[in-house]
Amino acid sequence: MIAFLSLEQRVTAIEIITIEVHPNFRNKGIGNLLLEFTLEFAKKQKSRAVTLHVEHTNQPALTLYKKFGFEIEAKIPHYYGKNCDAYFMIKKI
Ligand SMILES: CC(C)(COP(=O)(O)OP(=O)(O)OC[C@H]1O[C@@H](n2cnc3c(N)ncnc32)[C@H](O)[C@@H]1OP(=O)(O)O)[C@@H](O)C(=O)NCCC(=O)NCCS
Repeated sequence: MIAFLSLEQRVTAIEIITIEVHPNFRNKGIGNLLLEFTLEFAKKQKSRAVTLHVEHTNQPALTLYKKFGFEIEAKIPHYYGKNCDAYFMIKKI
């Protein structure tokens, strides 16, 4: 498997549950394609936003999300376990 994307449809938003590219295939534009697909899908579903949680130290993912206009809505302490915080991010459509 090269990449994996799972989305969950909420009442007014699409939540990105998992987005992952195999380490051998990173930095080749696949993450960009998956985000483009997600935003296009959200528009077609008439969702108002795309949301996600990301580990607050995950720089590649944070850079990717900010590039696509996601903003940090909240910091959630210990979301991924002790001392491992998450950012809840949102992109309004
Ligand atoms: C985050 C992830 C999905 C990016 O996938 P990718 O295919 O490597 O991403 P792309 O090659 O399409 O790069 C897209 C953008 O991501 C950012 N990016 C990717 N790798 C980066 C790195 N090592 N450091 C900083 N920014 C990075 C850049 O903004 C890049 O845009 P650019 O090409 O204009 O520079 C991938 O690193 C991954 O699978 N990580 C492990 C799983 C994970 O952390 N998922 C997110 C959980 S919330």
